[in-house]
Amino acid sequence: MPSRRPLVGGNWKMNTTRTEAEMLAKAVIEGLGKELPEACDICLFPPFPWLSAVTDRVGSASVAVGGQDVSDHPDGAFTGQTSAAMLLDAGCRMALVGHSERRHGLGESDLVLNDKLKQAISSGLEAMLCVGETLAEREAGQSEEVVAKQVKQGLSGVPATDLGQISIAYEPVWAIGTGRTAAAEDAQAMHCRIRADLENQYDAPSAKGVRIVYGGSVKPSNADAIFAQPDVDGGLIGGASLDAEGFIEIIRAAASMSAS
Ligand code: PGA
Repeated sequence: MPSRRPLVGGNWKMNTTRTEAEMLAKAVIEGLGKELPEACDICLFPPFPWLSAVTDRVGSASVAVGGQDVSDHPDGAFTGQTSAAMLLDAGCRMALVGHSERRHGLGESDLVLNDKLKQAISSGLEAMLCVGETLAEREAGQSEEVVAKQVKQGLSGVPATDLGQISIAYEPVWAIGTGRTAAAEDAQAMHCRIRADLENQYDAPSAKGVRIVYGGSVKPSNADAIFAQPDVDGGLIGGASLDAEGFIEIIRAAASMSAS
């Protein structure tokens, strides 16, 4: 893997009770030991109501906590939304933007997601922009075009100087929560294409520095093969992040790539 530091996120989605969230965070922190967080950036994305409880648990451990979403507005009359400032106040360092369960599940547009991303980074959060094609788009041979548009519009108006606060998660929608994973070579091909698009949109050094992680049914048994790809810089893990031991195995796979 090139000089980019691996990044592994655990997206707990709408799972866990408060007690389970605290126990899971504790098990992850205790199981990680010292070396893994040194070799790999790790971020837990618990449900919003448990953010403070999880940031308290994490304490000063070198594991970040992030929001699964962030509002496209700074504050005001937006019932049910959570601002970037609130996430920071709750101890978060990151936010997911455009996860497919919001993009496709709730119909969030590229325009809204671009505003969310800008809210996150202008407030000082890191943003992970999630992109990916549906099965129908893949079968129609449109994957590259769809993903290129999501990246371009998601980053519209974002200067190269802000790219250090941004990572991209390529998550083919058909692979999320389905047990189907993209073949490692297919993931590599798409990551490579995303990096080439970033180079066109920005410049080569900026594109080279952006971390592009893969998500979609990553588990301990397939993590090594996926993370071995040169343009795969880690993963965004859903189901498998709810099991501390399995999640740590996945982190270990990413960390060992940075060492090799
Ligand atoms: P999965 O989810 O690992 O359960 O497929 C990934 C994600 O939605 O980020």
